[in-house]
Amino acid sequence: MRHFLTLRDFSKEEILELINFASSIKKEPKKLLVDKSLAMIFEKNSTRTRMAFELGIKELGGRSLFLSSNDLQISRGEPIKDTARVIGSMVDFVMLRVNSHESLLEFARYSKAPIINGLSDLYHPTQVLGDLLTIKEFNKQGKVAFIGDANNMANSWLIAASILGFEIALAIPQNYAINAEILEFAKNEAKKSGAKILITHDKFEALKGKDVVITDTWISMGEEAKKVQKLKDFEGFIVDNKAMSVANEGAIFLHCLPAYRGYEVSEEVFEAHSEVIFTEATNRLHVVKAVLCFLDKFRGI
Ligand code: CP
Ligand code: NVA
Repeated sequence: MRHFLTLRDFSKEEILELINFASSIKKEPKKLLVDKSLAMIFEKNSTRTRMAFELGIKELGGRSLFLSSNDLQISRGEPIKDTARVIGSMVDFVMLRVNSHESLLEFARYSKAPIINGLSDLYHPTQVLGDLLTIKEFNKQGKVAFIGDANNMANSWLIAASILGFEIALAIPQNYAINAEILEFAKNEAKKSGAKILITHDKFEALKGKDVVITDTWISMGEEAKKVQKLKDFEGFIVDNKAMSVANEGAIFLHCLPAYRGYEVSEEVFEAHSEVIFTEATNRLHVVKAVLCFLDKFRGI
């Protein structure tokens, strides 16, 4: 059995297979998971991820159960390992959106059903798959700038780029750092794949020569108390027209959403790239379907 917790567990060939498969079922939807069931556990809010999984399994012929962690006995102290053994024995897949990646690992240790990461503090792998499908559809090369927080999106992009052999520059504020263990992993992968990695505090340095510009909120879910400090720390990190003009001509702008205009992105840049951004959001549906079908192949193995 395979889980989908981070792109680290997937080879370049497997990631490309997932993107190509998502692309083909986007063109020609098929009922490939008839009567299969998916439990979705959310410890945090969601619009896109919930819709993508709920509709994705339905379009594949299966069904889903939405489980808010507030309503589960987990919120009254039932251990994850017990919850995992119960839920994992009743459904075919479990998707979790969690505060701590550790909870996902614990769930995966005890679940009989494959676990899918619908966002953790460390990674957001189905989002980056959606981004990769979008980049393919808009015919862009693998030269990427990520401007913003050293967060779950930055980590997942760094991992994807390092495995796929992309050029990636991450611009993060002074006194912020990419998770050391994740950076180490990415650097080792880059030696094999030929990926080029730059970590800088200068957003213009990161943007130079790039075809794809990415940002994400500066205040991730659960960080609301840090808002005042983070807004100070991120001053100057907005992706605006001046920033986009440093990237290559015709560069696309991606945002996983929700977006906070006037903070990480200007209204002008957001609206000028809205076709790409909302294609990216819709593509979550197709990549999620590809992930479910992929994991289904490893059932019982
Ligand atoms: N991008 C993303 O995961 O959106 P939601 O938080 O709405 O699921
Ligand atoms: N970094 C953001 C992504 C939201 C989809 C968060 O974790 O809240």
